[in-house]
Amino acid sequence: MRKMEDLISINYVKLLIIALFYTCVSCSSVEKKIYVELNDTVPCVRLLNATHQIGCQSSMSGDTGVLHVLESEEDLDWILNTGPHPPYMIVMETAFFNRSVMLRMKNSSRVSGVAVIVSKTGLAENFSPHTTCPNQNTGVYSASYGPELANCNVTAWNPLGNGLSYEDFSFPVFALKDENQTQVIRKCYEEHNLRVNGSAPQYPLCAMQLFSHMHAVTDTVTCMRRTDLQNRFSINPEVMCDPLSDFNVWSSTRPLNNSAKGHKANESVVIAATRLDGRSFFWEEAPAAEGTVSGIVTLLAAVHALQPVTQQAPPPRNIFFTFFQGEAFDYIGSSKMVYDMERNEFVIDLDNVHSMLEIGQVGLRSGRNLWMHSDPVSLTNSSVMDEVTKMTDNMQSIADGLHISLAKLNVTQPLPPSSLQRFLRVRPIPGLVLADHQTSFINRYYESVYDDAENLNVSYPPNLSPDEQLVFETEEAKSLAEVATLVARSLYKQAGGEERNLNNITADPRIVAQLLYGFLIQKNNSWFRSLLPPEVTKKGANSILSSGPPQFYIGVGPRNIGPVHSVTRFVQYIMANLTGAATNLTETQCQNPESKDLFSYFWVSGPSSVNSSGEPFCVRAPVRLAKAVSPAFERMEYGSRDYSTWTESRWKSIRARVFLVASRELEMLTLGVGVAVLLLSLMVTYFISSKADLLFSSARETPTTTY
Ligand SMILES: *[C@@H]1O[C@H](CO)[C@@H](O)[C@H](O)[C@H]1NC(C)=O
Ligand SMILES: *[C@@H]1O[C@H](CO)[C@@H](O)[C@H](O)[C@H]1NC(C)=O
Ligand SMILES: *[C@@H]1O[C@H](CO)[C@@H](O)[C@H](O)[C@H]1NC(C)=O
Ligand SMILES: *[C@@H]1O[C@H](CO)[C@@H](O)[C@H](O)[C@H]1NC(C)=O
Ligand SMILES: *[C@@H]1O[C@H](CO)[C@@H](O)[C@H](O)[C@H]1NC(C)=O
Ligand SMILES: *[C@@H]1O[C@H](CO)[C@@H](O)[C@H](O)[C@H]1NC(C)=O
Ligand SMILES: *[C@@H]1O[C@H](CO)[C@@H](O)[C@H](O)[C@H]1NC(C)=O
Ligand SMILES: *[C@@H]1O[C@H](CO)[C@@H](O)[C@H](O)[C@H]1NC(C)=O
Ligand SMILES: *[C@@H]1O[C@H](CO)[C@@H](O)[C@H](O)[C@H]1NC(C)=O
Ligand SMILES: *[C@@H]1O[C@H](CO)[C@@H](O)[C@H](O)[C@H]1NC(C)=O
Ligand SMILES: *[C@@H]1O[C@H](CO)[C@@H](O)[C@H](O)[C@H]1NC(C)=O
Ligand SMILES: *[C@@H]1O[C@H](CO)[C@@H](O)[C@H](O)[C@H]1NC(C)=O
Repeated sequence: MRKMEDLISINYVKLLIIALFYTCVSCSSVEKKIYVELNDTVPCVRLLNATHQIGCQSSMSGDTGVLHVLESEEDLDWILNTGPHPPYMIVMETAFFNRSVMLRMKNSSRVSGVAVIVSKTGLAENFSPHTTCPNQNTGVYSASYGPELANCNVTAWNPLGNGLSYEDFSFPVFALKDENQTQVIRKCYEEHNLRVNGSAPQYPLCAMQLFSHMHAVTDTVTCMRRTDLQNRFSINPEVMCDPLSDFNVWSSTRPLNNSAKGHKANESVVIAATRLDGRSFFWEEAPAAEGTVSGIVTLLAAVHALQPVTQQAPPPRNIFFTFFQGEAFDYIGSSKMVYDMERNEFVIDLDNVHSMLEIGQVGLRSGRNLWMHSDPVSLTNSSVMDEVTKMTDNMQSIADGLHISLAKLNVTQPLPPSSLQRFLRVRPIPGLVLADHQTSFINRYYESVYDDAENLNVSYPPNLSPDEQLVFETEEAKSLAEVATLVARSLYKQAGGEERNLNNITADPRIVAQLLYGFLIQKNNSWFRSLLPPEVTKKGANSILSSGPPQFYIGVGPRNIGPVHSVTRFVQYIMANLTGAATNLTETQCQNPESKDLFSYFWVSGPSSVNSSGEPFCVRAPVRLAKAVSPAFERMEYGSRDYSTWTESRWKSIRARVFLVASRELEMLTLGVGVAVLLLSLMVTYFISSKADLLFSSARETPTTTY
């Protein structure tokens, strides 16, 4: 008997479920008609370090609010105080996206989210969501090393920084890029939400819903501990966050045996370094033109200029080129390389390092000026002082020959944020940082979405085809070519090369133009295509040759194997082309060469002509990738103060949509009726199953053939 009652109630519940399911199927088809999905949106995501969480997130089921376009101070009052339909979803123009407005939103319970229209109209004179003192706690200056220079006490490098990227918002913030999407929103807003003669608009109203729920909370320590625990006890661990990671790219003028780690006898290298990455308030939206691209392009052009001379008249010392990833997040790439050098896990060690020249921001040379920055603390060591003095004198005389105004800086000023600082933390290495700023950055859009081609004044005359733009030598290309010539000659001289060869080293403005075009405007161009493997040039969702510039945000390694759209891959293959030699190996030989000790092998597409799509061939080059992940994760020191602890939260979906909502009362009524129906049916179920004895007593004698 018990059994039969159960069966009856189970069937009743089944029926209910089927009914609910049917309702939901029909409701989702209704949904399709009403909702407009916004496609080209970019979220702000949550990042965590040892002690904090920063960024943005929505609730699990997305945050919804009545749309309000912020166009004036009056609107702000409406949103924060008087408007009758909170919470509001704010759509704002660039002009309002600043610290004071965003903090007022953050502190108001009447705001459920923000969408920023990223455009150049109404862009302020300056905008940097970064801090005023980038990488404040992980550079070389501290209580024990030049305490008077620590915390940017002497020079605030980024005085325009408003710190917005380091705030923690409890609501979602999205960027809207596509003009047409913005039009959809505006139209919906204007048709339904505009105030008429100052009075509140009537239902139905246009609303927006943003989904960006983040799995990780609090800080990296909490998140990684949880992950480690799960890893230990669960077969299917649920990972909440991933360490930021990618790869450094390095190469040298004389190949180094990459299979032999640690100290290399008779090897002395001059390091030429620059950074590979940038960031902004929004995820994967970091053009980093002056902040990063100016340095990458300069160093690549210098590599190109040095190549023939270092082959014909090799200088006594090796020149070691390196591009560091993740420097924006507390020097991930450089701290990892130094860490590996210290532990004999890198191809050279610190004893092999003779000196270092780093290229900082060099794209905005006002009055054609450049400055050499050095570290006043290590200069108290006389041998370092001698070497740095020699280096600056050499560069000075090379610059004079090139009519570049290059100045040495006052010895009381600390180094700007730079990878060199991570080397100096370990030992006094003679080094200089070349930059276009004397004190604080002249970049007014540091680490923001507006540090783009326009900020570097890279633009093209109208009516040029993509292939013509690719080789068009802008003023900026010519200017950076000069800097690259200075860098190349200085490196050759620093490596002990002979004076008489210096004039044979000149950077090609055309190469610089191509690099600028590829890194700032369009990575899918004929030159980059010829340098990459044939398979990546095929179209596809995950193609690294999607439209637009490469990705400069470091990202998280493990989720996508290797850097996909990342700048790393491009720099790797460009370096292979610039420092390598074509071989006659076949594709299979190229993928499995006899020895990889000295060289890497790259199967590349080759330049295409008018008729053919290029003949692929194998390039042999001393170019390597080296993992760029903070040593804090290898050491499982998630609360580390010495190494970067930045992780990125995982999430399930990032979506945005616009739709109409009926009045709140109506919604409540619908909800109330729904709940009432549910309760009623539950009661009926309970009643039927508890009184089954009576209700189905007649069935007692009949066998249960119906089941
Ligand atoms: C977004 O894409 C979907 C499908 O591709 C399309 O139906 C929709 O109209 C697009 N949304 C907008 C605002 O263009
Ligand atoms: C983590 O980031 C926050 C926000 O920028 C900062 O205040 C804090 O000092 C950082 N913690 C560490 C250990 O660097
Ligand atoms: C925007 O819409 C216009 C006309 O409606 C169309 O020509 C244009 O290609 C669209 N732009 C994008 C990026 O979809
Ligand atoms: C707004 O007010 C003006 C003047 O009072 C009136 O002429 C106009 O019809 C009103 N508009 C609407 C939409 O009510
Ligand atoms: C590179 O180093 C490894 C390990 O020391 C050694 O076995 C190999 O022969 C070296 N290769 C070359 C080309 O010197
Ligand atoms: C100066 O630095 C070098 C390494 O560059 C080191 O060997 C030497 O001991 C230092 N001298 C002093 C006085 O600290
Ligand atoms: C160097 O800086 C100090 C302190 O800021 C200043 O007194 C001195 O005049 C400066 N020297 C030069 C050459 O600019
Ligand atoms: C930008 O480039 C244009 C043309 O190349 C030039 O006329 C203009 O002076 C440049 N502006 C700056 C600020 O360099
Ligand atoms: C890159 O550009 C070429 C030529 O414009 C085009 O044929 C190709 O489909 C593009 N590749 C991708 C992945 O979009
Ligand atoms: C480098 O690229 C250029 C242009 O695509 C090509 O002509 C040259 O053969 C390449 N060199 C190597 C070593 O790959
Ligand atoms: C490749 O070139 C080398 C000499 O440079 C030659 O010995 C070898 O036979 C060539 N291999 C092929 C497959 O052509
Ligand atoms: C391309 O093909 C056309 C005819 O098919 C031929 O006349 C022309 O010479 C070819 N051009 C090249 C660069 O091979």
